[in-house]
Amino acid sequence: MRQQLLNTKNQALALINEASSPEEIERLRIAFLGRKGKINQLLKKLPDLSKTEKAKVGKLANEVKQAIENALNNKLQVTSYKLQVADEFFDTTLPGKKPEVGHLHLITQAIEEITDIFTKIGFIRVRYPEVDWDWYIFEALNMPKDHPARDEWETFFVNEKPDPKKGKMVLSVHTSGGQIHEMHRLKGKPPIRMLNIAKCYRRQQDVTHTAMFHQFEGLVVGKGINITHLKGVLDHFAQMWFGKGVKSRIRPFNFCFTEPSFEVDFTCSNCMGRGCRFCKSGWHEVGGAGMVHPNVLKAGGVNTKKYTGFAFGWGVERILSLRLRLDDIRLLYESNLQFLEQF
Ligand code: FA5
Repeated sequence: MRQQLLNTKNQALALINEASSPEEIERLRIAFLGRKGKINQLLKKLPDLSKTEKAKVGKLANEVKQAIENALNNKLQVTSYKLQVADEFFDTTLPGKKPEVGHLHLITQAIEEITDIFTKIGFIRVRYPEVDWDWYIFEALNMPKDHPARDEWETFFVNEKPDPKKGKMVLSVHTSGGQIHEMHRLKGKPPIRMLNIAKCYRRQQDVTHTAMFHQFEGLVVGKGINITHLKGVLDHFAQMWFGKGVKSRIRPFNFCFTEPSFEVDFTCSNCMGRGCRFCKSGWHEVGGAGMVHPNVLKAGGVNTKKYTGFAFGWGVERILSLRLRLDDIRLLYESNLQFLEQF
């Protein structure tokens, strides 16, 4: 009987090996392992055997059943996989799918480029708080309490207890407060060549203004610093950012923290100054500049008898929208991938 069991096993394994469909495999399962299958037929003779022989044959029968069961299951897996692959058309000549590659946001790219332009000519990038005290944002910048010029800055105030010396807490309306922080950091000792790029906040929202925006502020303090140095830096930046042939122009203006003060224009890079629909006059205004007011130098602890300085502050979104010729600055913040992916 043992020999019969082994023969049945060999027969089953050979047939399973030949099987090529799940249906055929199921038929073999029933034929060998089913209630009326070959193994059970053989085992019907078990009661006729001696006690010791019964135990040995019983053990062998279990091993044979297990071997057939394993072979059936393995074959079923292989056959189903082949069927699955055959069902799907797979064109091996197609090019692979490229993973999507993202990039830094346009504003971040612009900030990196601006940093690069200025650090190459000796400016040092710094960072100062976005939430600051009234004293740094207004008072130390020559705008005492109740000065009418404060109204122009459309300030967000933070609902916190004012500091007895530094006044109310505000969201910084401009990066000019960084001038004072930087002079203090250097203990009022020039040379100072600061580049402060930071978020600013104002209660404004239209095609050229957003409530949160970025400014970049330059401050240079040293012996004999004058307007020609300022003009040189402006022209250098105009060419590096907008391209060759673009110049800067300064027009008289008024800021409390600079004297004299200017508004800075760059040649329109669309018409190179001839005048077009985009610029009207051949120029675009980008921000403010001027020679640092002595009261500001004093607030920063700088000796005004020995040193002078210039400063400028411009909008990152403004110069970027001019270069990209955007007609609405808010596009930069709409998270519209169709727009952002173009760059
Ligand atoms: C100032 O903020 C001065 N602190 C600049 C300055 C610095 C003058 C140093 C002199 C010396 P103004 O408010 O004009 O100036 O802002 C400068 C630039 O910031 C603007 O020309 C514009 O480009 C940008 N800007 C101002 N408000 C917004 C806004 N709401 N959204 C986007 N850009 C803005």
